Amino acid sequence: MALSIIVLAAGKGTRMRSGRPKVLAPLAGRPLLAHVLAGARALSPDTLHVVIGHGADSVRQACAAADISWVEQQKQLGTGHAVQQALPGVPDENTVLVLYGDVPLVSPATLKALVDEAVSQSRLTLLTTHIPDPAGYGRIVRSASQTIEAIVEERDASDSQRAITEINTGLMAAPAGKLRAWLDAVGNNNAQGEYYLTDVVALAVAGGDAVAGVTAAAEEVAGVNDRAQLARLERRYQLGQAEAAMAAGVTVLDPARLDIRGSFSAGEDSVLDVNVVLEGDIRLGQRVQIGAHCHLRDCELGDDVTVLPFSHLDGIKAAAGTTIGPYARLRPGTELGAGARVGNFVEIKNSRVGEHSKINHLSYIGDTTMGRDVNIGAGTITCNYDGVNKHQTQIGDGVFVGSDTQLVAPVEIGDGATIGAGSTITRNAPPEQLTLTRVRQQTVRGWKRPRKGDNN
Ligand code: UD1
Ligand code: CA
Repeated sequence: MALSIIVLAAGKGTRMRSGRPKVLAPLAGRPLLAHVLAGARALSPDTLHVVIGHGADSVRQACAAADISWVEQQKQLGTGHAVQQALPGVPDENTVLVLYGDVPLVSPATLKALVDEAVSQSRLTLLTTHIPDPAGYGRIVRSASQTIEAIVEERDASDSQRAITEINTGLMAAPAGKLRAWLDAVGNNNAQGEYYLTDVVALAVAGGDAVAGVTAAAEEVAGVNDRAQLARLERRYQLGQAEAAMAAGVTVLDPARLDIRGSFSAGEDSVLDVNVVLEGDIRLGQRVQIGAHCHLRDCELGDDVTVLPFSHLDGIKAAAGTTIGPYARLRPGTELGAGARVGNFVEIKNSRVGEHSKINHLSYIGDTTMGRDVNIGAGTITCNYDGVNKHQTQIGDGVFVGSDTQLVAPVEIGDGATIGAGSTITRNAPPEQLTLTRVRQQTVRGWKRPRKGDNN
């Protein structure tokens, strides 16, 4: 049986109070719609349709992919109308699964159960759930024998119907041919003047077609209508990721204070302290320690790397046994060799640091290639920018750079060279020699410090 998935994503999301279409609101760093599409793709559908309207261009751009047929719904005339816009691209013999762009966390297993039920009996199947406070949702109306008879929207419901706690999640599966016929018959004579997708239930029942229900856990089918709901889903999703990390052998000191906004893998016995934020693609080896309040994006850290608190790492690779921080800022293109040490208030970008080299305090290293066993003194700056162009600094193996030195690029420091503290190095320094630029120290004898009350 061929499967077509239709994702409804044309609505505005008024209650978000946002200039951005609701389905682009980020959950764990990715748009809500991206999560829905990931769930859809887990079922390997034969066709995938996304109905867009509000902010159509930005939605298309944010989630562009070759497997999506984009369908524009010019006016948001209701969920039934929205599904109708996509149906011309779906053959009658397919099964249709309808998903909502603002219901992001339904598991593939639940979606599969919904589709399987619809396929096995060739009938309309609804995904329902039970919630203690059903206000705002369409209620599932069942007969005395528990068969589903209709969905009644809150605004159109009687008092006794409002008391029903089984609600419509909005997700449903049905044979495409039948769905098409029912939707053609749906009118808009209701409180909102909209073409409700939910009205297909009563039409199916009236035509003698039984309607099935598959029940999901309430938290799995929670939707996002406002920012408070978005925040709740974010925390739930993050907790799930923390639990997955722990199951993989990672210590998470407080699962409520970890945020993973991308892909994450780590070897056993790695440790994540509190308030760590991980973005993009993060790969950690074994026994990696990330201290409190660190922010990492697109990083690859080898075994036994230690990142001390308050460090900010973006687009870096660090080999085994390196130590970073506290308060380090490592920018894209930084590569640290095994056993290297980068200390507090050090910024590095687009540079390679050799094995066991140390940059322990207050330095800026940019566009630099540094050998192994180098010691960079506190306050060393590579002057890599002349106001127009960036230039390279080369530092050989075993170099010792004294504190408060400026290396004015392009410049090369030979293997084993020593640079005296306080130097401004503008020309290449030869290997194995001491090079320094320093005004000779003098003492002015008999000089008196001015005092208050002195004339002039
Ligand atoms: C809908 C259901 C309700 C269910 C609830 C669950 C209907 C009539 N009601 O109500 O039974 O309990 O979801 O959350 O279906 N959309 C379009 N085009 C439109 C209208 C909506 O693409 O013209 C999209 C929205 O972007 C959204 C989804 O459809 O992703 C649901 O629309 P929404 O207006 O939020 O429906 P509800 O009133 O919440
Ligand atoms: Ca909704």
